[in-house]
Amino acid sequence: MTTTQERWSALLDAARQARDQAYAPYSRYRVGAALLDDQGRIHPGCNVENAAYPEGVCAEAGAVSHMVLNGGRRIVAAVVVGEGAQAITPCGGCRQKLREFGDDALVIRSADAQGRWLGEHTLGQLLPSSFGPAHLAGKKEDADDEA
Ligand code: THU
Repeated sequence: MTTTQERWSALLDAARQARDQAYAPYSRYRVGAALLDDQGRIHPGCNVENAAYPEGVCAEAGAVSHMVLNGGRRIVAAVVVGEGAQAITPCGGCRQKLREFGDDALVIRSADAQGRWLGEHTLGQLLPSSFGPAHLAGKKEDADDEA
């Protein structure tokens, strides 16, 4: 599925609105994310920090949960909006979370809070030679063979 300008624009709006809801009192770095699934639906998420710092959740992780809860299983485009002029890219853990539902060709754009595009990467660029669901395909049969 090619992602049209209207779809990018809708994803950007959703990510910016999600960012407005971010709970980031510790880092003061607010993040919004929006995922487009293969049914054309948009799933937003924002970062939610915690006084016990490692328990904080990234915006992309929230968006993935939102998508799965709503039955989505395939990400075809993603937008992340961070803070300032430096293009945000998903953290390492979030790259792997996106990988579960997206392939190497998945395009991830970043933008600033004012809605200016700052960067574009494929998931394959951000997470090369990744481990994914296909690695586990057939695992059960293998285990049965060994048993
Ligand atoms: N953060 C995200 O939500 N997504 C990323 O891809 C990078 C970092 C959040 C985590 C934390 O709440 C804040 O940004 C500062 O690291």
